[in-house]
Amino acid sequence: MSNVSLDRIVTFGFRDKYRGTGIIMTGKVKWVTDIDKSVLLNNFEKRGWIQVSASEDWNFYWMSVQTIRNVFSVENGYRLSDDQIVNHFPNHYELTRKDLMIKNIKRYRKELEKEGSLLAEKDENGKYVHLGFVPVTFMLPADYNMFVEEFRKNPNSTWIMKPCGKAQGRGIFLINKLSQIKKWSRDNKAANFVTTPCKETYVISLYIDNPLLIGGKKFDLRFYVLVTSIRPLKCYMYKLGFCRFCTVKYTPSTNELDNMFVHLTNVAIQKHGDDYNPIHGGKWSVANLKLYLESTRGKKVTDKLFDEIHWMIVQSLKAVAPVMINDKHCFECYGYDIIIDSNLKPWLIEVNASPSLASSTANDRIMKYNLINDTLNIVVPNGEIPDCKLNKNPSKEALGNYIILYEELAVNEGADRDLKNRPGQSFGSKVGRAKDFGRPISMTWK
Ligand SMILES: Nc1ncnc2c1ncn2[C@@H]1O[C@H](COP(=O)(O)OP(=O)(O)O)[C@@H](O)[C@H]1O
Ligand SMILES: [Mg+2]
Repeated sequence: MSNVSLDRIVTFGFRDKYRGTGIIMTGKVKWVTDIDKSVLLNNFEKRGWIQVSASEDWNFYWMSVQTIRNVFSVENGYRLSDDQIVNHFPNHYELTRKDLMIKNIKRYRKELEKEGSLLAEKDENGKYVHLGFVPVTFMLPADYNMFVEEFRKNPNSTWIMKPCGKAQGRGIFLINKLSQIKKWSRDNKAANFVTTPCKETYVISLYIDNPLLIGGKKFDLRFYVLVTSIRPLKCYMYKLGFCRFCTVKYTPSTNELDNMFVHLTNVAIQKHGDDYNPIHGGKWSVANLKLYLESTRGKKVTDKLFDEIHWMIVQSLKAVAPVMINDKHCFECYGYDIIIDSNLKPWLIEVNASPSLASSTANDRIMKYNLINDTLNIVVPNGEIPDCKLNKNPSKEALGNYIILYEELAVNEGADRDLKNRPGQSFGSKVGRAKDFGRPISMTWK
């Protein structure tokens, strides 16, 4: 027991009054959520935290993306206190909306190019050597003419149309003829760029038509990435990611372009398939995938693939960092969707702000419970009332299944410094010529 007399210990209800007075605050974390998922509720209850309503004094709010919009809206003018934290950054959509993610990555590449950064190097076909990790993508209808130009260069290509404002595979379709876009445009009256509301805008991306197949089926990867600070960037990667398999064997045949059970890996789609297996839910752990790849392709290429995945996640965060609101009350547990092609090149497909916390299988439930548990251990150190003025430096034990993916030093490190850490990149000639950005980077994914 400290020597602070009892009347100097203030319980949570009165904390505002005593803030800054040096008086010790005690009490339990008060939580709110508008997401009714047992993996969340069980974690809060296990900690003995107290549930309150959103209109009461709260410390921790796990909220939907709709709610974060209200909390930080100009009209609302909500000001969070030092002991309040939330699970989204105010403008997380810079990364998590399909069109904005692409826009930010394109801008990032252009900026690096302008600076003459080695990171923006292109090959003889004009493709980015280090930053070509998203499929070629255009916004529709705004970039329609650019898309047509690109399409005509390779008229046999297949493209995937995705509405910017939807998730879980909804509204997605594949096309391989310009006439299909024209029909879509007529049907949606989307030709009028000015009056088309945002939710009706689409991205059109080159379809990765050579996905790595296992058992003849396409799959994608879901990784969770926790970001606790944007500038300087601090992010963690959850080791227990998983693969989501299609229920129907893959064929690049254009006859099957309409069959979403072949092409879309979303569980929300696949669970309606005749061959969906509710026991394993069409899921495989990333650890299993790694073992499989090591035995079929070898350890070296498997390690390189995973390093590449880590690399592109960090680069995607760096691409949005300059436009993000670096609010110290916020953290975010992003859900990354990644596809591996048959050459073992990973592609970043999209990033989700509210990755599903629903559990499709028993294993899923355990994994998601642990994901929330480990996340809370990092963002609410020791389960105590948070203080966002303090630096979050979780102990090794608190990391659970997270590993530190990237920890930027407070001093700005140039992009060329990243290049040194890129998998397969030698420290030789290219980087030797690069401008020296001073202090070496702290541990990344190695
Ligand atoms: N460019 C692409 N190439 C191949 N498959 C893709 C591509 N884009 C999306 N997909 C498939 O479609 C699924 C849904 O796309 P995604 O962008 O994640 O949208 P949603 O928000 O609906 O989940 C992905 O999980 C993947 O299986
Ligand atoms: Mg998705």
